[in-house]
Amino acid sequence: MPLTYWLETYGCQMNFAESNAIELDFAKAGIIPAAAPEEADIAVLNTCSVRQTAENRIWGRLGFYQHMKNERKITVILTGCMAERLADDIKKRAPAVDYVVGTNEKQHLLEIIQNHPEVHEEYDFMTSYKGKHPSKSLLPIMNGCNNFCAYCIVPYVRGPEVSRNPDEIIAEIDELQRMDVKEITLLGQNVNSYSYELSGKIVTFPDLLKRITASVSEQVWIRFLSPHPKDFSQELISLIGAESNLCSHVHLPVQSGSNTVLQAMKRGYTRESYLNLVSSLRAADSAITFSTDILVGFPGETEKDFEATIDLVDRVGYLDAYMYYFNPREGTEAMQMDGHLADEIKLMRLQKLIDFQRAKSLKIKQSRIGRTERVLCENYSRKDPEKLLGRTEHDEIVLIDDANLTTGSFVDVTISGLTGTTYKGETLCPGKPS
Ligand code: SF4
Ligand code: F3S
Repeated sequence: MPLTYWLETYGCQMNFAESNAIELDFAKAGIIPAAAPEEADIAVLNTCSVRQTAENRIWGRLGFYQHMKNERKITVILTGCMAERLADDIKKRAPAVDYVVGTNEKQHLLEIIQNHPEVHEEYDFMTSYKGKHPSKSLLPIMNGCNNFCAYCIVPYVRGPEVSRNPDEIIAEIDELQRMDVKEITLLGQNVNSYSYELSGKIVTFPDLLKRITASVSEQVWIRFLSPHPKDFSQELISLIGAESNLCSHVHLPVQSGSNTVLQAMKRGYTRESYLNLVSSLRAADSAITFSTDILVGFPGETEKDFEATIDLVDRVGYLDAYMYYFNPREGTEAMQMDGHLADEIKLMRLQKLIDFQRAKSLKIKQSRIGRTERVLCENYSRKDPEKLLGRTEHDEIVLIDDANLTTGSFVDVTISGLTGTTYKGETLCPGKPS
């Protein structure tokens, strides 16, 4: 009987990409996925440390595996950012865990469980991060972060920035194209600070994008996640406007609309420079849309600072936003700051922001009904398997009523309605992919 595994992934896209790589490695070694954790020989938990709630969830899961381990044999592996941050604690508090594997070791998990581990001091990029979805793939191009924003644990758990060899990236993109992948998302904690020295010359993020767009067919969409607003050069802005492979949608984390808070957060830009960046991107590409991340209730945030965030949200007009409130993380600078706010204030502001952003984005979404958009068909609707769900290049979800289409194909649709956050799309030539 082959060995079986159960993999649980928490946190960001980078973790999901790395989990894909682990699964590919396991497959090569003949280790196959189990239908349920109860049936697995090996359980892998790929964890996140970004918030306390994320870690609490893992502690809960470890209780579950401890219980299982009392009943039967199972190997439990904890990897990812929480494993990096709390390795000693985990070894002491969670005897269910057989291996604690840090972020730089994660790529060598198979070697570790096969009992011939080597010490890897640096992050190694693994080839082929093909995801479960056949038409889409996540592709890490850099790892780590040098920014040390005052609230963020990522630089401590991921380490300093390391960029991947561009030749390797292009080779992997060629492979993904051969596998008929239609959408590739380049990943990195600070993706646009990508920088790699090749034959004595620095390859920057725009250089890399130029190489990528020159090497892919017209029918491949390229996205990147997450760029830092302070690292957008004019060259990058112009490229986004000029290259049709680059999706007309940028996730641009703002975090706050107040200069005082942005400075305390050590974000490295002002509200004015952020708004100028949005205008420059719109000037380069009139169809461009934005999404963002916003953190409310940072220590010292006043009502006026919060109102400045609402005002910025109003000015930019995001299609979508990930909104959360400040939750101190041990080891970060913000933990030691004065002016921590009461939970009620943080929650009240968060709710106000959510209500405002939702109402704003609903208006924007409604105003976009009637246009024609290209949609990448991703999967069949669970509610109605006759219908397909896809996404536009603006990352909008569209439900298409055309049973003749197949997943992985592009189709041009007229956006004819909106239910919740899902658009309805009518195919221009029913049954025919574009
Ligand atoms: Fe964290 Fe700031 Fe780095 Fe983003 S840029 S990963 S928020 S430290
Ligand atoms: Fe979480 Fe680590 Fe990603 S802390 S958000 S899994 S980089």
